[in-house]
Amino acid sequence: MKKRPASTLDPSKIKTAAFVIEEELLRHNLSILKHVKDETGCFMLQALKTWATWPLFHITKEYLDGTEVSSLNEARLGFDEFGSEVHMYAPAYKEEEFADVLKYCNTIVFNSFSQWYQFRERVWAHEKNTGMKIQCGLRINPEYLGPDEHGGLWSPCAPGSRLGIRINEFKEALAKDPKALEGISGLHFHIFFEKEFSELETAVTLVEEKFATYFPGMKWINFGGGQKITDDAYDVNGIIALIKTFQKKYDVRVQLEPGAAIVWNAGTLVASVLDVLYRDDVPYKIAVLDMSFSAHTPDFILSSDYDVRIRGAKIDRSETPKNTKNLYRLGGGTCLTGDRLSFNHVFKKPLKAGDKIVIEDGIQYNLVQCTMFNGVQHPSIVLWKDGQAIPIREFSYQDFRARMG
Ligand SMILES: Cc1ncc(COP(=O)(O)O)c(C=O)c1O
Repeated sequence: MKKRPASTLDPSKIKTAAFVIEEELLRHNLSILKHVKDETGCFMLQALKTWATWPLFHITKEYLDGTEVSSLNEARLGFDEFGSEVHMYAPAYKEEEFADVLKYCNTIVFNSFSQWYQFRERVWAHEKNTGMKIQCGLRINPEYLGPDEHGGLWSPCAPGSRLGIRINEFKEALAKDPKALEGISGLHFHIFFEKEFSELETAVTLVEEKFATYFPGMKWINFGGGQKITDDAYDVNGIIALIKTFQKKYDVRVQLEPGAAIVWNAGTLVASVLDVLYRDDVPYKIAVLDMSFSAHTPDFILSSDYDVRIRGAKIDRSETPKNTKNLYRLGGGTCLTGDRLSFNHVFKKPLKAGDKIVIEDGIQYNLVQCTMFNGVQHPSIVLWKDGQAIPIREFSYQDFRARMG
């Protein structure tokens, strides 16, 4: 595989706060995903829940087959702006929205047999009326738990999870109605968050042990997202071999729906230091930024053990740090007490107002979840290309006002 190009971002050229996508790095990630697709013939979708900057879909479209969506709004965005295939999965569909789901999607994955029974007649009627084939699938839950699940926060297989059908429920449904799978052309599992290939290998074996009895008759099996395919250390050849073997063994087409892997290390959130505070009851200084951790990086602070990487700084999680020189706790610009990181960073030199802070990998799951809590300014969206900052979107008072009434 081609070596990952170094970031060329010059933060001094960025008006903060801004989510900055580096086109060269984005294309690097996409070319790895395309390589997997080309080598295996698998189907590669862009999961919009992770990152949905549609003005750049013309780039992602060059490499990927379609979109994976989780709501009617995402479905419409995928249909309007990406085109091609729109695959939807939602924990539950709403009666009044389903006509539009049928309009925008060509694959619909159901989370339970009850939802499948509720909507299947409508799918079939739609197919009859329009002559368009809709692929229907069921989400399964193989009850896989890996070694590092951040307390189950991001694990769809955590105990009590509402996501996916477990094997005992699957067997029960088929015992009640042996024809329950009629009209189902695929199974879907999404069970990972930022995982290595070795975990996929283990999980696929588990899925096979539990569900392979139901593979005959299926056209596709969707392995979901959550794999760090575009990370430099990822075993790309491993996933290629696994997909090839799996497809041959079961005569199905594998689908992948990466989200984070698309923007992995290809985008940052760039902020500025507004003020530096000294408190005599803590060993660190506090840098207040022109962004908000709770409003702009909610996904980062959900789990206190998630490492938020800052360019040029080192994470220090010790409660009694030995070296307090240039030790800072980064805090957001809202009045929420918890709007800050729960650990410190050691910088190379003292921070002062006006310094730029580059939050690595700041785009995934953050941009899509941003709020304007406190009326805080929504970071703009910028494309970094050929040494230039190209504005994609700036947010204004009108955006804030429009959301409030
Ligand atoms: C069903 C489904 N597919 C794909 C993804 C994308 O996962 P990731 O961004 O970790 O690759 C998610 C993320 O939650 C998901 O829920």
